[in-house]
Amino acid sequence: MQVIRAIQELRESIRTLRAAKAGATIGFVPTMGYLHQGHASLLEAARAQCDLVVLSIFVNPLQFGPNEDFDKYPRDEERDLAVAKDAGADIVFFPQVQEMYPKPTKTKVTVEGVTERLCGASRPGHFDGVATVVTKLFNIVQPDLAYFGMKDAQQVAVIEQMVHDLNMPVTIVPRPTLREADGLALSSRNVYLNEEERKQALVLSQSLRMAEELLGGSSASSVTPSQVVNAVRSHIETAPLAVIDYAELLAYPSLEPVESLKQVDRVILALAVKFGKTRLIDNTIIRIS
Ligand code: PAF
Repeated sequence: MQVIRAIQELRESIRTLRAAKAGATIGFVPTMGYLHQGHASLLEAARAQCDLVVLSIFVNPLQFGPNEDFDKYPRDEERDLAVAKDAGADIVFFPQVQEMYPKPTKTKVTVEGVTERLCGASRPGHFDGVATVVTKLFNIVQPDLAYFGMKDAQQVAVIEQMVHDLNMPVTIVPRPTLREADGLALSSRNVYLNEEERKQALVLSQSLRMAEELLGGSSASSVTPSQVVNAVRSHIETAPLAVIDYAELLAYPSLEPVESLKQVDRVILALAVKFGKTRLIDNTIIRIS
């Protein structure tokens, strides 16, 4: 496994590997590090489908707001390298902030529509930061396939829209959210939770299951979007430490509000909830039959 920090060195390495094997496919897993089993599952999927697997680890300052956790976002390079090696990465790319953003950057990528609600509303500028860095990473790595976890389903919708609109020659491969045995979605930010917050955070996955039952059971045809959201909010509020940022039921992947469940075939129930200082997101996508 090669560890590369400079953009030019990465380009040369990929060029050499491509030249050695005509038609070799490149699978790319962009991350912000502090890798967990969810990231490993993205690497494993890339390993199974591609000839060359590139992982990037870059805590991207552009996608953090002024009062967010950029400085204290967890980092552990040594452990990340071990996880990457086990999961089959060929190249780990650690771009440096100075090289990615050498001077005040004058170009940014903005995706409209799908960024208006959920994290787009509560974290202004966040998705411009994500779309800009993913565009830069795609230009540097030039992957055939790129793998993203569905825990951030809005991010997947934003990147799919961007790739479509800008004719980027890459196929986006969304992969399912991985969970602990008790239901908590794997996240690098789980490390911030104390024991009590960790316990109460289970209301998130429980609420998702509740919505799935309401929308999938015999009452599905009579239930309204606001009834589902109210039931979910009430359940989250049983956790005294939970502070809801959003709990919304929207059409997926357009992320438009849903007037009537008769007009949509897929919805997302998306949650962002703070426990102490830690903001967790989770979601489920439900097919309306
Ligand atoms: O999902 C993430 O870890 C980040 O948003 C990404 C896609 C690596 C861009 O910085």
